[in-house]
Amino acid sequence: MSHNAAIDLTGQTAFVSGTSRGLGERFAMTLAQAGADLIVSSRTLASLKDFTARVQDLGRQCLPLELDVRSKESIDAAVAQAKAAVNKVDILVNNAGCNVRKPALEITWEDWNTVVDTNLRGSFFLATAVAREFMVPAGYGRIINIGSVTCVAGYAGLAPYGASRGGIRQMTMSLAHDWGRFGITVNVLAPGWFKTSQNRVMYEDAGWVEYLTERIPLGRPGAMEDLEGPLLFLASEGSRYVTGQLLLVDGGISVGATRALPAKK
Ligand SMILES: NC(=O)c1ccc[n+]([C@@H]2O[C@H](COP(=O)([O-])OP(=O)(O)OC[C@H]3O[C@@H](n4cnc5c(N)ncnc54)[C@H](OP(=O)(O)O)[C@@H]3O)[C@@H](O)[C@H]2O)c1
Repeated sequence: MSHNAAIDLTGQTAFVSGTSRGLGERFAMTLAQAGADLIVSSRTLASLKDFTARVQDLGRQCLPLELDVRSKESIDAAVAQAKAAVNKVDILVNNAGCNVRKPALEITWEDWNTVVDTNLRGSFFLATAVAREFMVPAGYGRIINIGSVTCVAGYAGLAPYGASRGGIRQMTMSLAHDWGRFGITVNVLAPGWFKTSQNRVMYEDAGWVEYLTERIPLGRPGAMEDLEGPLLFLASEGSRYVTGQLLLVDGGISVGATRALPAKK
């Protein structure tokens, strides 16, 4: 197999949740550009109209679905709609997610539920629905759960978010063990710091950006295109013997970098 064939997704179908903006939109477009047909989703169907047209302009199929991953009924309805429209889903990107950034003492019961139910419970039940309906019968699947640096590091103000991402990592290992016998791989793609609507306010703070940049060994926050290669690797045949793994795409910030220590003579 040539290097290019290893990431050619022609003829495959990818379901990406949370595609109305940000990383999810980029993930979906990257998969379409590599040849995949798409199923895309948002809680607001209208927000997918332009994106769907752009994907169809590439000559790919694109099925937009309304989906709220906090609702079991919504997950089941979306997967049933997918089942009525396509005969396979080869790739699932569990991207839909949210965050509430507050000091732990200010986190409410509702804040916790919003974040953990969306990021962790939603990803689990979308994965099981897609696996049950499509991947297990086909004996093939690539599931990519979106994680974060908080899979491995703690940040003040991110307690529910960090709990959901730590949970995603453990859930991924468990599903990888469970579903390897069905030919399904399950991995975490964990972005570092990327500017999207979820964290735009932080990037408006020059001091914070400077502080952050100093701690990233590669010397800059992430750009969307930095995620393309790792995504295509995990989505494709090239990663066929990789499962249950965490792939951090973070410029190295998770190594715990601070300033270089003074030299010892
Ligand atoms: N940006 C970063 O630096 C970064 C770093 C690490 C991980 N992540 C993770 O990557 C994913 C995308 O992040 P982003 O920065 O692109 O965020 P974003 O711009 O806020 O986009 C979030 C997406 O998730 C969808 N979503 C939110 N709640 C949902 C729900 N209950 N049901 C279904 N869809 C829902 C939104 O769709 P609708 O509002 O249209 O429904 C939207 O498309 C998230 O899981 C995030 O935690 C981001």
